[in-house]
Amino acid sequence: MSTGVDPVKLMKQQVAKAAAARVQSGSVVGLGTGSTTAFVIQFLGDRLQSGELKDIKGVPTSFQAAVLAKQYGIPLATLDDVDHIDIAIDGADEVDPNKNLIKGGGAAHTREKVVDGLATEFIVVVDSSKLVDRLGSTFAVPIEVLPMALAPVTRAVEKLGGQPELRMGVKKDGPVITDQGNMVLDVKFAEIPDPAGLEQTLNNIPGVVENGIFVGLANLVLIGELKDGQPSVREM
Ligand code: 5RP
Repeated sequence: MSTGVDPVKLMKQQVAKAAAARVQSGSVVGLGTGSTTAFVIQFLGDRLQSGELKDIKGVPTSFQAAVLAKQYGIPLATLDDVDHIDIAIDGADEVDPNKNLIKGGGAAHTREKVVDGLATEFIVVVDSSKLVDRLGSTFAVPIEVLPMALAPVTRAVEKLGGQPELRMGVKKDGPVITDQGNMVLDVKFAEIPDPAGLEQTLNNIPGVVENGIFVGLANLVLIGELKDGQPSVREM
């Protein structure tokens, strides 16, 4: 009989709590996007409200992160207001054994790469289903594209062996539009033997704003797991 408890949600909550516990008073915190980081933002708000954590500023990676931060009482800052980010916490769609990532499941990878890349410490929060031996095994690479360049970028990624698909809205007719007003191509590659090379190659196509391959940015990956039905957190 089902207990009604969603195991993936339990893992996300546990890993989010562990990451939020690492934030210290006085820090500038990069606030990631997605369902796992939504719990991080909630737990940071709880710590602020209890008085255990004081004087943090959140730099959001998306409209969603900004809305949640306001809801949970986290003071916000922009990159014009701060000259550094102490710690960023963000989710991922795939994590390889070298801590390289595919991100952009929420079409927020452009701002995420800016904020996560600036952080002194970038912590990734995932459940164990996100671990892969090689990037691209389960997830397509999201590429944010200027709308006027959609056709040439589509042809260019096809020439590289990718299979691009324009990301379509849910409960919205037509394509997903990013927080920057651009579109997203999800590009499936048969294999990605050189993530750093592909990241650079894709970003060199005129009209590409940013892609979701994150190489060498993550300092720590926290992985939520279930052991004998109990959620636990392991470090990579
Ligand atoms: C958004 C992202 C997310 O961090 C990624 O999609 C993981 O999301 P979730 O925690 O909901 O699985 O990159 O652009």
